[in-house]
Amino acid sequence: MIPENTINPFEPGAGKVPPVFPGREREQYQFMQCVKRLEHNIAPSRDIIICAPRGNGKTALLTWLERETSRQAANNIDVIDVTPDEINTIPELINILTPSGRKSSLLGRLEGSIKATAPAGLTGLPADTGITAKLNPEQQVAFTTVTAALTQCCLRKPILLLVDEAHNLAQPVAQALLNASQKTRTKAPFLLVMAGTPGLRNHLSAINATFWERNDILQPGLLTREDAYKAIAEPLETFQVTHEQDILKNIAQDSQGYPYFTQLWGEKLFSRLQLQQAGHINREIAQLAAKDIRDAQQIFYQGRYDSIERLELIPAATAVAERYAQQAILDQGQLEEILNTVTLPAGHTIKTAREALVNEGYIWRADPADQKVFHPGIPSLMAYIKTQAPALSTLRINQGD
Ligand SMILES: Nc1ncnc2c1ncn2[C@@H]1O[C@H](COP(=O)(O)OP(=O)(O)O)[C@@H](O)[C@H]1O
Ligand SMILES: [Mg+2]
Repeated sequence: MIPENTINPFEPGAGKVPPVFPGREREQYQFMQCVKRLEHNIAPSRDIIICAPRGNGKTALLTWLERETSRQAANNIDVIDVTPDEINTIPELINILTPSGRKSSLLGRLEGSIKATAPAGLTGLPADTGITAKLNPEQQVAFTTVTAALTQCCLRKPILLLVDEAHNLAQPVAQALLNASQKTRTKAPFLLVMAGTPGLRNHLSAINATFWERNDILQPGLLTREDAYKAIAEPLETFQVTHEQDILKNIAQDSQGYPYFTQLWGEKLFSRLQLQQAGHINREIAQLAAKDIRDAQQIFYQGRYDSIERLELIPAATAVAERYAQQAILDQGQLEEILNTVTLPAGHTIKTAREALVNEGYIWRADPADQKVFHPGIPSLMAYIKTQAPALSTLRINQGD
């Protein structure tokens, strides 16, 4: 029996590290290799980009990395954790990177150089700045200023910079940051780790076509059935909760390996056990929790539906969902064929509608090695869209198709 006043260890959606964090050993290994390098004043050779639709554990991975770095190397590495709204401008970016003692003088110098309209001081730029070849004068100033500040800071103490929700980074800031990161790493220990939804690829590629291929891309996806089982069962076991194996296997399967749903299941099972003053998961507890899960999932799906609706892409999303009901993955040609059968909102082409669905995380390129294969982004969202959307045939008639 779980005591009444015990805190529920599952916190779905809070971006917290889950109580048991399976299926991410490869990412964790790579992170710790980088941390070891930083500790030895060696810069990892590339930045890391974590990219996946929401609910797959991007923030959890960043939080884990931050926690482990602080645990292992708090004295040797500065961990800076930011979201795009904290670094809307280049001065804000520098401010975040700079230890407070030197903040004012650096900022003063920076503001002076940012205001400079002519690139008068740029004649002395290092000759090896292939990165800067395509930058306009203002972008070059941003690049050199951020690089100078970053290098100076990292030479004093290695920096690990974590940027969550990076698909929302202001373009000038993203550009300066990525270029400066590359340059700084040639001279000082620095690592940039960015996380974002599948829209991040388009966001960064719009700034520079090679950003994506230059960095290490991690795409945390769905968990295996065994890992989903572990994520739900093991935290409960620490409270001496027992379970019928078949029931928990079915629950793990119901979660579809979607990390967010594993935590939702854990949370609901835990609270039902507490309310029933029970210590064993049987059919009754599972059914009560299942009802809670359905309610929470409806709210979650409704949120996703609303944002696709705001983009006026429900007919496109529905047509795509109907095809995925017959086929697990679609290639680009098949996807475009489907989009060609629906009326797209004004201003959209087939390609922009496809990318809008990618940016939304409705579909995604789950295989980094094959960018022309598309998987559903969020499990069962397509089934929900199909049941909620007005029948496609009616829509087509209304639209005079
Ligand atoms: N590997 C995992 N196993 C179990 N739960 C996970 C895992 N990764 C993340 N979670 C949980 O899933 C939920 C969604 O994770 P989050 O990091 O917020 O996703 P994202 O940032 O990609 O939207 C959180 O409650 C988190 O604790
Ligand atoms: Mg997140």
